[in-house]
Parts: sequence; structure tokens; C-alpha cells
Amino acid sequence: MFDDLRQYVNWLNEQKLLNVVEKKVSSELEITQIVTKLIEKKDHTVIFENVDDNKIPVVANLFGSESHISNALGVKNLDELYNMSDQIISLIDKENNSMKEKIDMLFTVLNMRKIKPKTVKRAPSQELVYEKSEFNFSDLPALKSWPLDAGKYLTAAMVISNNPMNKKRNVGMYRIQILDENNAIMHWQSYKGGSQNENHAKELGINKIPVAIVLGCDPVSMWSASAPLPPDIDEFLLSGFIRSKPVELVKCKSIDVMVPAHAEIVLEGEVDLNDYRDEGPFGDHTGYYSPVSQYPTFKLKTVTMKKNPLFPVITVGRPIKEDYFLGKASERFMLPALKKITSEIVDVNMPAEGIFHNFIIVSINKKYPGQAKKIMHTIWGLGLLSLTKIVVVVDKWVNIQDLSEVFWRIGVNIDPNRDLMITEGPADDLDHSSEYYRFSGKLGIDATAKIKGEPRVREWPEEILMDEKIVDYVDQNWGKYGFKD
Ligand SMILES: Cc1cc2nc3c(=O)[nH]c(=O)nc-3n(C[C@H](O)[C@H](O)[C@H](O)COP(=O)(O)O)c2cc1C
Repeated sequence: MFDDLRQYVNWLNEQKLLNVVEKKVSSELEITQIVTKLIEKKDHTVIFENVDDNKIPVVANLFGSESHISNALGVKNLDELYNMSDQIISLIDKENNSMKEKIDMLFTVLNMRKIKPKTVKRAPSQELVYEKSEFNFSDLPALKSWPLDAGKYLTAAMVISNNPMNKKRNVGMYRIQILDENNAIMHWQSYKGGSQNENHAKELGINKIPVAIVLGCDPVSMWSASAPLPPDIDEFLLSGFIRSKPVELVKCKSIDVMVPAHAEIVLEGEVDLNDYRDEGPFGDHTGYYSPVSQYPTFKLKTVTMKKNPLFPVITVGRPIKEDYFLGKASERFMLPALKKITSEIVDVNMPAEGIFHNFIIVSINKKYPGQAKKIMHTIWGLGLLSLTKIVVVVDKWVNIQDLSEVFWRIGVNIDPNRDLMITEGPADDLDHSSEYYRFSGKLGIDATAKIKGEPRVREWPEEILMDEKIVDYVDQNWGKYGFKD
């Protein structure tokens, strides 16, 4: 397991999984275009050593395929994440009954593995400490990713803030639009942890929230910042669990926020709730420019960093890009918890084309009439899943990771008069199709086989399946039929 980004990049280099680009490249569009091609070709992570003559190298395509993200998280494949999370859930389930006991048990398990973040006094991330007059946003090799972007952005920023009510930490990955040397815009969307802290602060009459922006640290923590954990669950606890090793944290120099001791660069400052600006447009993972909206500003105070830091970037745009693989890892990790809440769920798939909030495909162990519709309501009632626009429900025997099979099942199994449910609810901030900002229609598609008790008078047909004995017989005798390769 890697302590920091540099260690991970060195390991990639040893494994011959790293491209090093010495040629000078531009932070405006060129890096995005290069990384887009690398992702298409499933090529390696890349270090750009000279971006606009800036001394800080840019590291890109850290998460651009399933094998990239598996390496970064130190697992063989993403199913390993499922198994890790399933283990904890089963443990909690076996031993206890009440919700309080379950939560106590969860913390005991986490403590047992000594994975709680550990506080240190001295940190590599504070080898260099600068006032904003000495080092600021203009000194970073930040990217303008797409032609119509409003400016330069931090695209791999881990944003750390504390809930002003109970002091619990939140780490979220949000893009940050640079306005000038000392000011930027904090794009934490509604429903996200940072935005919830903004709401809490307003309730308490506080108008400045101490916030640290972390650029690069151990790759597991970079992922956990993007994972949709329930409110007030510390993302660094998740990193510690996956790494089987605590994340070391150090107190910021100018604000009361703890940051990873092995971070590359930390921007300390405050989010100012008296100063909202127009954020965007930004070429986002919808494949469109996200509309301009108002978000609060971040005012820089102090910058700390390692002596030779790396500057990470993450490419988003028309799918498939890096965010898909980060999200897929979260999907696999969160699935056991989802199954615990709703035991009839067998598997879920949020396909890349659906960019998380547009489509979710769910397979269920269907036992009673109307169950597919019940599952749609469950999805629309659960945390960030409530933003899902289209829910497709199929039976447990459907391989929902195979979209070709899903399309086939939808086509053959639905009567649009009967199997579509249209309702409405909250929408993702990025949804440009909805009539109103953050409020949209929702579609449920019940592509399950219809059973007794559901509104269907005709008999449901048998699906064609070959006799298993014949399948085995033909397999065993394949060589004897005389087919060439
Ligand atoms: C590359 C990348 C960029 C992201 N940008 C944003 C963003 O600008 N705003 C936002 O609210 N969420 C963004 N997200 C999604 C959040 O990181 C994600 O929803 C996370 O669960 C938020 O955590 P939180 O609820 O603890 O804040 C991004 C995710 C990735 C992988």
C-alpha cells in the first residue's frame, strides 16, 4: 500500500506502467486531448514534466481503466472491494440486532483493524510553507480542459471541511474554478457533504468555513473522497480500511482542519458564504458544458507542500473517462450495504453512459407482485441514488453487467402501457435536461417477468434455454466435429 502519490507513481514506473513526457506541453486543452487518447487506448498513467515551464510536474490518467483503479486501490479487481465490504456487513449482521449495536460493532471492527486516521505533528506535506503572497493559484499548473471552459480548474481536488454542528470531517472531490491568485469557486453541489456543511454554517449564522484543498495524496484517499459515504462518516476511515493502515493526518498551519500528512500540496483557506459567483461553464462528465450556477468562493490563506510535489489532474468529459472507474469502485464497495437495506437486490450496474445519476440497472430476486416498482421507490429514496433519473429493474438471472442483455430484456419484457412508471423528484445539479434546476421527472422501467397478481391476463412465456446435458455433450465433443479453429 502506498503512503503517497509519489510512491505510487514510482511503483507504476517500476512496473513499466508509467509514461513520462519530457516535451513541453500546454495546460490549455493539450493535456486533456492527450489523456483522452490514452484512456481510449487503455494506456498508462502519465507524468508531464514540463507544463508551460512550470516546475511542478502534472500526473494524469491515474484512474483511466479498471486495471488503473485496481492498482491504485491495491486490489486485484473491483470484486475484491465488494468482498471486503461484504465481510464487514456480514460481521455486523451476524452478531447484533439493534441499529445502535450494529453501529457500535462497525466501529469496533474498524478499531480492531487500527485503521482510524492517526494524528502526527510533523508532515512531509508541510516541508514548504508559503504565505499567499509567495505561492498561490497562479503558481499551479492548473488546466483549462475544454475549449469553452470558464477558465482554469483544479480537477483532482480533495476538499476537506468540518461540520460546524458536530465537528465531523467531510472529504469530497469537487472541481474548483480559479478566479485569480487568491480566489476560486467551490463547486460543491447540493446534497454533497461540503454543501451540507455550508447549510449547517448558515443555520448557525457562520459565514466563513475553514476549508483545505488537498492536491494529491495516497491514491486510496483520492478515491475515497469521491465515494458517496453517508453524512458524517469519515472518508479517511474508509481509506484506512482499504489500506489496512491508518491515514496520517496533520493540522493545517492557518486553519483548524486536519489534512493528510503525505499530501503533495495543500491550499488552506476559507469558503466565504458572503461571496457567491457564477461558476462554469465547465466541460463535465455529462459530455456537455455544465450550465453556469452560483457557488461560494474559496479565499486562499496559506499553501503547504512537499519539496518536490506532484500535481494530479483527472480528466472528465464525454464518457468513458476517469470518473467512471472511480465511480465503479464505489458502486462495488457500496453494493453490500445496499443489499443489506434491500435484501431482494442481487446486483446493480451504473453504466458509464449514464454518468451515475442518469441510469441504474438493478436485478432483483422477485417474489411478489409490484416488487420491481417497490425497488424503484427504494432507489429514489436513498441518499445520492435519489437523484437517479432512470431505474431499470430486471430479474436475478439477468447479467446486468452485460448491457446487450439488458437492452434485450427491456425490449422483450416491457409493455410500455403497463411497465413504465413516471414520477418526479430531486435532480442532479448537472442535469441540463430537466425543466427546472435540481428538479426533474423520473422513469422506472419494469423489465422483470410478470408474475401472478400483476396486471397481466396472458401467460408469461418460457425463456429458451438449451438442455444442459446437450450443452456439455457438444462442448466435450467439439474437437470431433472437424471445425477449423
Ligand atoms: C473527478 C471528479 C470530479 C467531481 N467533481 C465534483 C464537483 O465538482 N462537485 C460535486 O459536488 N461533486 C463532484 N464529484 C462527485 C463527488 O466527489 C462525490 O459525489 C462524492 O461522493 C462527494 O462526497 P461528499 O458527499 O462527502 O461530499 C466529482 C467526482 C469525481 C470523481
